[in-house]
Amino acid sequence: MNKIAILTRDCAGVNAAIRAAVRTAAAAQVEVLGVLRGYEGLIDGDFVALNRRSVSSIINLGGTILKTARSERFYQAGYQERAVKNIHDAAIEGLLVIGGNGTLAGAHLLASEYGIATVGIPATIDNDVNGVEAAIGADTSVNVALDALDKIRDTATSLERIFIVEVMGRNCGHIAMQVALAGGCEEVLLPERDIDIEAMCREIKAGHVRGKVSWIVVTAEGRAKAQDVAAAVTLGTGLETRIAVLGHIQRGGRPTAIDRILAARLAHAAFEALTEGKSDVCVHIKNGNAALLPLGEAIRPKVCEVADDYHLLKVLA
Ligand code: F6P
Repeated sequence: MNKIAILTRDCAGVNAAIRAAVRTAAAAQVEVLGVLRGYEGLIDGDFVALNRRSVSSIINLGGTILKTARSERFYQAGYQERAVKNIHDAAIEGLLVIGGNGTLAGAHLLASEYGIATVGIPATIDNDVNGVEAAIGADTSVNVALDALDKIRDTATSLERIFIVEVMGRNCGHIAMQVALAGGCEEVLLPERDIDIEAMCREIKAGHVRGKVSWIVVTAEGRAKAQDVAAAVTLGTGLETRIAVLGHIQRGGRPTAIDRILAARLAHAAFEALTEGKSDVCVHIKNGNAALLPLGEAIRPKVCEVADDYHLLKVLA
């Protein structure tokens, strides 16, 4: 291969992955183009040359230097063909696609429908790529949310209040479960579990009678909104509640060492897979080593196992 391109979504660690891919390619004397604004840039032929120097001092930066976008056009008539033509016109022989389910689904489509050589690198704070234990960005988002939660605890404890903290996660409670466990929270509401607000209110009231005065409940956005949970808790207990919606701060920030190292390993392995002729696959770490799985499998809904951790949280609460 003489020339490849990199397309990304954003989260902490993506820049570290771009850097690793570009430098691995440079060592193999393969040219690299960056696709600007994700699939939008592929449709518009918006490419930028990347070399060793252009990826210096980005290892510690959140987001993506390539910018990104949700592309509705990519799924409208004629635009995929335009994207494919741009790939061929620019003499791009393979594509490294860094992102979560939506981004990897585009890579699968380009490979399976149009024969474009693509290798996916999982990067999403939701950590919901099927068959993949750890996606780039997941560790940083948990640490960012935990830092915020620790600060909220200061006020919760001082003012003897109930706090409902909403974290990201539409279909997967990864962030919520990890943050609740690491933050020593009393309850967590997850997309994977039914919730019983009445039982939760009974528990809070019983705790109150025993003299317990502060509670932190974490809710995943995909299960229940913080303001709805707070209203239900106030109604059910008569106690004052406050909410905190952490939002996009969880997707940004300085990547942790874990995410940077994961990014380096996965990007390096993805480049090697691509240049060895592999396509329509996703790299991940399995039993400590880089492995590949079909992109078609990676984009299937992931069933997150939360039962054991939830049980542990309740025992320790
Ligand atoms: O998939 C990652 C994620 O951050 C989700 O946790 C969140 O629900 C969603 O993206 C937010 O999307 P947007 O940035 O487009 O609002």
